[in-house]
Amino acid sequence: MSERTFVMVKPDAMARRLLGAIIGRYEAKGLKLVGMKFQVVSRELAEQHYVEHRDKPFYNDLVGFITSGPSVAMVWEGPGAVDMVRAMNGVTNSTKAAPGTIRGDLGLATQQNLVHASDSLETAEREIALYFNASDLCEYTMPDEGWLGILD
Ligand code: PPS
Repeated sequence: MSERTFVMVKPDAMARRLLGAIIGRYEAKGLKLVGMKFQVVSRELAEQHYVEHRDKPFYNDLVGFITSGPSVAMVWEGPGAVDMVRAMNGVTNSTKAAPGTIRGDLGLATQQNLVHASDSLETAEREIALYFNASDLCEYTMPDEGWLGILD
């Protein structure tokens, strides 16, 4: 079933000029970009985003890091997009992320792990609503959707 997931290219990836390389992976997979916003996330927004981690020891560092520079928030759509993007990103600690994943190929850190993606459909809905208005998201059909078999 077609799903939408929330993805963020984090400030470390921006600083390393990896935005294009990361977007290219999701594009090449066949996912469809339906929303994109370039911004320096405010502390207030970051605190809402990471509210479930507020009691974790790394919470302050995480909020400080994510607000430390520009990031790119995106919504990607496709069949099974939530789990697929998580798999493409690799596990949280980049040193343990499998080769072939974004973190496994491009990173060496846990905090500076390049990308964020929603961990469930419910989280995706919440995170998309946090970063985007409904009118920011584009409804359109890619010309290859039929022959790729991704119309459902
Ligand atoms: S998960 O699966 O991504 O929710 O994994 P989790 O390990 O629970 O991590 C949640 C987010 O916290 C970040 N994180 C850390 N930041 C700084 N220091 C340490 N030690 C640390 N451990 C985890 C991790 O990158 C997750 O951020 P997002 O943006 O969700 O990927």
